[in-house]
Amino acid sequence: MSIASKSPRTAARAKVAYVCSECGEDHSKWQGQCAGCGEWNTLSEFVVEPAAAVKAGAPARRSGWAGKVDPPKVTALKDVQYSEEARVSTGIGELDRVLGGGLVPGAVVLVGGDPGIGKSTLLLQAVATMGGRLPSLYVTGEESLGQVAGRGSRLGLPLDGVSALAETGIERILEQAAAMKPGLIVADSVQTLWTESLTAAPGSVSQVRESAARLVRYAKETGTAVFLVGHVTKEGGIAGPRVLEHMVDAVLYFEGESGSRFRVLRAFKNRFGAVNELGVFAMGDKGLREVPNPSAIFLSGSSGPQPGSCVMVTREGTRPLMVEVQALVDSSPLGNPRRVAVGLEGNRLAMLLAVLHRHGGVATGDQDVFVNVVGGIRVQETAADLPVLLAVLSSLQDRPLAERTIAFGEVGLSGEIRPVPNGEDRLKEAATHGFRRAIVPKANAPKSGKLGELEIVPVRTLAEALEAAS
Ligand code: TYD
Ligand code: MG
Repeated sequence: MSIASKSPRTAARAKVAYVCSECGEDHSKWQGQCAGCGEWNTLSEFVVEPAAAVKAGAPARRSGWAGKVDPPKVTALKDVQYSEEARVSTGIGELDRVLGGGLVPGAVVLVGGDPGIGKSTLLLQAVATMGGRLPSLYVTGEESLGQVAGRGSRLGLPLDGVSALAETGIERILEQAAAMKPGLIVADSVQTLWTESLTAAPGSVSQVRESAARLVRYAKETGTAVFLVGHVTKEGGIAGPRVLEHMVDAVLYFEGESGSRFRVLRAFKNRFGAVNELGVFAMGDKGLREVPNPSAIFLSGSSGPQPGSCVMVTREGTRPLMVEVQALVDSSPLGNPRRVAVGLEGNRLAMLLAVLHRHGGVATGDQDVFVNVVGGIRVQETAADLPVLLAVLSSLQDRPLAERTIAFGEVGLSGEIRPVPNGEDRLKEAATHGFRRAIVPKANAPKSGKLGELEIVPVRTLAEALEAAS
């Protein structure tokens, strides 16, 4: 414990840098605006570990390097030995799906989400189901061991292969890990971690970044898989430096509405699989339950058609998903009416309203426009364009769309309706769920004009689409 007893202040004169909490860019001097991303007031002090302290040996390096540094070696890429990543199933199918088919040894996965959304629950369930096959270490910096064990037993989880550690100091965590050699480490949460080699306060950008970097280095050196839990700020990014996203192999976001029991896990970055794959869970009194067939759970379930509502079929990842887009258009008392999009991109809404005015002849310039995707999920694809405009029009005219109607399609700036990928899959899904009418881009429509009971209305322009919907 030589480093533990040595005060960091006496170690050597620490060099100070300033790091941007938005983009992670380093600066040698403090300045009001980040030169990297242009954000204001995002620089905070970052104490760079003095070179002497590194040589004295961070625990992760002490074992393998033994103080001697091997010269770097160049290898012809074709001679590099590698194994097809032997993936380990987490035992939770929806989590495996988002990870791209299971957990890769040595991978570092950041799981982000609002407080209380279920991150700790999900990872405790995962380590418990994996425990038998992969010895796991659950490191908690937020809850006591009693709370974690209590939750585990209340959920009826097998906790045999799971060790737990209530600790936030990264040096001691890595020391325990080196002794125990787990195959999987969960660090809940990364914001509580701190290292003795920095004087900055725990929770500060530099502490979070350095502690995460130590864990990443450990994971790569030993082939240990690591889950990092990260809270999300109100702007939607993982608190602390965005640079965490660059350091890790995969970033998963947990989304959902606090009022709804459904949760969506989304891959935002994945070095070992597809992004935009979705995993769907339901939170109940026995923890998170998988929803392997989520197709229609995000429909509002209101009886009969309502003005301002349009159902669409999204296809993010490999499964089609029916979601409902709602709009409320109301005359605005403001000189600058509001455009609010929840679950959709705000700028795109403004653009779509301009297209609606210019090419559909429908003005909303004196109206507040609110658009929402039911169920707290996000739709990131352009296939939502047409449903958004149909919902807006329906609310403006206070007239529901015909019963059992769906729509999808991208709307271009000149009012053309463009095709979207996997049109046939989407139509089949709508037919399966008993929808009767589909307003879709012409290039996505099958020649026959019908799919089972589903009547397909192909449209080429916004004007045609508005005509079909009225
Ligand atoms: P938690 O996993 O602690 O969230 P996070 O780690 O993301 O902050 O989840 C806490 C919430 O989940 C809490 O509001 C209660 C709810 N919950 C259930 O509804 N059922 C359960 O079985 C458990 C364990 C939690
Ligand atoms: Mg938690």
